Amino acid sequence: MSRRPLVAGNWKMFKTRGESLAFADGLRRGLGSSGSVEIAICPPFTAIDVVASALAGSGVGVFGQNAHADENGAHTGEISMAMLVDAGATGVLLGHSERRADDNETDQALARKVPAALAAGLTPVLCVGESEFERDAGTTKAVLDRQVLEGLSAVPVADLSKVVVAYEPIWAIGTGKSATPAIAQEAHGWIREQLRELCGDTAEQIRILYGGSVKPENAAELLSQPDIDGALVGGASLDPDSLLAIAAAAAS
Ligand code: PGA
Repeated sequence: MSRRPLVAGNWKMFKTRGESLAFADGLRRGLGSSGSVEIAICPPFTAIDVVASALAGSGVGVFGQNAHADENGAHTGEISMAMLVDAGATGVLLGHSERRADDNETDQALARKVPAALAAGLTPVLCVGESEFERDAGTTKAVLDRQVLEGLSAVPVADLSKVVVAYEPIWAIGTGKSATPAIAQEAHGWIREQLRELCGDTAEQIRILYGGSVKPENAAELLSQPDIDGALVGGASLDPDSLLAIAAAAAS
């Protein structure tokens, strides 16, 4: 089963609209025509429309970094899946560890958000990953099993192939200390196994991205692992050439 790699750049809380436009122009200039790798940018909400317009027709996706499960309502500071679509987004990150830690994002909330994203026509990227403490305690597999099973618990089996999972060990995010390819592959293998329990052979179609200090220098080795189907890139996605280098590694 060949899965088209996805390289997504998570900008977190970086870039104004002007800076986002400059990035989009740079990315467009450097884009090849092969299309064997899907690229997506996850700008802050305020820049989604700017990036989506600047990249229209390029094949590059624009994803939100979060959204609420409800269609609308009294949720000050939140935005809905439909609002993301309205701004030009085609996907959404859900359950990033920074949101789990800083904003009390729970597996229960994610169980509602993933189907809500699908219903709105967005590609959900469910982020999972263990802390250093959990890894040292030997509970990594249990943590990943719980996050995957609960996060996907309300997704109809027929829709699971549209979901993307991102494995991001918390200890590797923003630390410069990426997981080794062997450690990452082991975790991706566990996640694939869990997905097989949920949907049998459809699990072979589900893309599992690795995230955590991915950069041009380590991308090729990580992405050559059999169950690593792309990358969720933070710091190294803020520069178009660096993101393109990672996408090139995913293509090779
Ligand atoms: P990083 O971030 O590449 O800067 O480690 C990854 C992420 O948080 O998605």
